[in-house]
Amino acid sequence: MATNERERAVLSLKGVTKRIGGKTIVEGLGFELFPGEIVGLLGPNGAGKTTTIRMIVGLIGMTEGDISIGGHSIRSEFTKAIRHVGGIIENPEFYPYMTGLDNLKQYRRMTDGITDERFQEVIRLVGLEDALNKRVKAYSLGMRQRLGIAQALLHKPSLLILDEPTNGLDPAGIREMRDYLKEIASKEGIAILISSHLLSEIEQICGRVVVIQNGKLVTVRDIGEQQNKAERSQIEVVVRATPLTVARQALDRLDMVQVTRVFEERNELLLSLKDEDIPLVVKALGEHDAALYRIEEAKSTLEEEFLKWTGGNRIA
Ligand SMILES: Nc1ncnc2c1ncn2[C@@H]1O[C@H](COP(=O)(O)OP(=O)(O)OP(=O)(O)O)[C@@H](O)[C@H]1O
Ligand SMILES: [Mg+2]
Repeated sequence: MATNERERAVLSLKGVTKRIGGKTIVEGLGFELFPGEIVGLLGPNGAGKTTTIRMIVGLIGMTEGDISIGGHSIRSEFTKAIRHVGGIIENPEFYPYMTGLDNLKQYRRMTDGITDERFQEVIRLVGLEDALNKRVKAYSLGMRQRLGIAQALLHKPSLLILDEPTNGLDPAGIREMRDYLKEIASKEGIAILISSHLLSEIEQICGRVVVIQNGKLVTVRDIGEQQNKAERSQIEVVVRATPLTVARQALDRLDMVQVTRVFEERNELLLSLKDEDIPLVVKALGEHDAALYRIEEAKSTLEEEFLKWTGGNRIA
């Protein structure tokens, strides 16, 4: 990676290690986040996600390594570094008998440098509309989470850190949270780090994922749309056709198509080819009188991938 690319990083961890009472909880962890991207911090229970996040937001110190935020070291320039971060670690605390709006106003009074303009901007962005005038005790969990995020955004951070933000939300709430975070990332150009053990969730919102296990980095991967772009050239497809032997012979003759697996019991072939060669497959099967029932892209889910990375260690 070029030097100027490094300088652009909103968050950078280098060799971050945390030991508590002789036990190594996080070991030599390093990764980066860039403006406007949503990255998932993924790992099974006890992997060290919350510990890592607590170090990033400055709630606990680290034993070795360094974290820099907005170009400032958390070790040598703590105040400058922390100014760039908004985070929700445990459930955000609010005054239940006050309205959402009054809670935000109260927070503003306690925090330096939140302009009127910014306050209005965040209120528009949270989209809680009428709910802002209701007491927080009447809020659903999803509404509370949104209010928490609004509060974390008030000082205009360039990095937002969320530990399991969809915990306890119902499917509609999760979807809403997802759309909301995507909007924030694109409108504010803010980098968002989300920890989760919900693979499906991470898969739908994040462009990249940092996988950790036993406090160590397992892999950093592009996922979702970014990955598709990178891998557009060669794809894998599953073809269901009968008779399978005839179909296989027909496809074996095509130079640009590789038959990589045969599933006899399901009458399916796994092919590796380029998107543009799919019509050739259809044509070849037709010419050899093999009946084609289905052709679809074989996408391994993040869960399958994760199991591969972690050697079958199932995520919670
Ligand atoms: N203060 C502490 N003292 C001793 N051990 C700790 C402390 N905090 C965390 N641990 C241990 O460190 C490991 C990582 O914990 P952490 O909470 O960071 O995991 P996690 O990835 O957030 O897990 P989960 O998915 O369950 O939230 C666990 O084994 C935990 O028991
Ligand atoms: Mg945790």
